Amino acid sequence: MITPTHTPYVVAEPLQLLYLEGDGIGPEITAATIRVLQAADALWRLNFRFESASIGLTALKTDGTTFPETVFNRAKSADGVVLGPVSHNEYPPVAEGGLNPSGELRKRLDLFANIRPARTRPGTDFASRTSFDLVIVRENTEGFYADRSMFLGPGEYMPTPDLALSTRKVTREACMRIAREGFRLAAMRGGKVTAVHKANVLRISDGLFLEATRSVSRDFPGILYEEQLVDAMAALLVRNAGAFDVIITTNMFGDILSDEASELAGGLGLGASLNAGTEYAVAQAQHGSAPTLAGQDLANPSSLIASSAMLLTWLSARHGREDLAIAARRIEIALDRAIENPESRTRDLGGSLGTKAFTDRVIQNLQLVTE
Ligand code: IPM
Ligand code: MG
Repeated sequence: MITPTHTPYVVAEPLQLLYLEGDGIGPEITAATIRVLQAADALWRLNFRFESASIGLTALKTDGTTFPETVFNRAKSADGVVLGPVSHNEYPPVAEGGLNPSGELRKRLDLFANIRPARTRPGTDFASRTSFDLVIVRENTEGFYADRSMFLGPGEYMPTPDLALSTRKVTREACMRIAREGFRLAAMRGGKVTAVHKANVLRISDGLFLEATRSVSRDFPGILYEEQLVDAMAALLVRNAGAFDVIITTNMFGDILSDEASELAGGLGLGASLNAGTEYAVAQAQHGSAPTLAGQDLANPSSLIASSAMLLTWLSARHGREDLAIAARRIEIALDRAIENPESRTRDLGGSLGTKAFTDRVIQNLQLVTE
């Protein structure tokens, strides 16, 4: 028998990736993202299996709901999900089928951590006074989000036609686990943790949040821990975003600060975002569906492409597949090179390329990345 002269290539188990196009620019940026993932799969034999399903306004027409239960079940069965932006504001009431796919997936798959990196890139314009590389680790399942905070019924209500009340849900368990996620990330990055709150006003709810973050900080004695009020944090990000590394905070504050951080880093169209739990993860652009840009090949697909790279990194850890982490890094490098080159930017970044042509450049760059 001839001893093989090489280690036979072990074909990894196939990974089922479900993509949900969404509304507005969703179909275009999702198509761009899947093209990049398909290119990576072809280059490095990652063994992806792609499937799609309809959500949002399209599903409302065909299925009478923006988020069919069959699609939720397919998301549960997939290894990873790529979620396009949804025009949630245009949906009918829940009773008429207007479910928010983003909120449904986050709550029902317990995607408790919304990880949102924001970093400046050499060669691109950015609004911040300093270059920076930070990550916002946002609690993703409770807080003021009335569509997911209660066991039964919404978290806001109107005792009278002229009085609306919203309930903010804060649990020790959710605060502890988002804090642990933040400290784990800071340990990997060699950085510090900043807990952002409004405990001088929300003394009980943000008091509980800080009790949890302080308790977790004691389990990570080697990591610098600090606290900032959310209004001061909004100002400090403008003044010196470079002073921060990992920011942990509750749902609504994370939503607001992550858009600010991405805009400071060069534009919301560059902001990556992963909704992650222990069992499931959903890549989702930070921005919305931008209906006025839809169908014109104008949208910058960078946010969803970068978010899908984050999904590959999550899948790498979950499945013990280093090849996926390498592919994720290479997608990020290829994307950075396209963004940094004024000749290959989309219009929102001062360039002239459309969505498809920009994606072509990212894929060309991918073929040249070797590190
Ligand atoms: C986001 C969005 C959503 C949120 C909206 C659309 C519900 O702003 O993902 O940041 O607030 O989480
Ligand atoms: Mg938001």
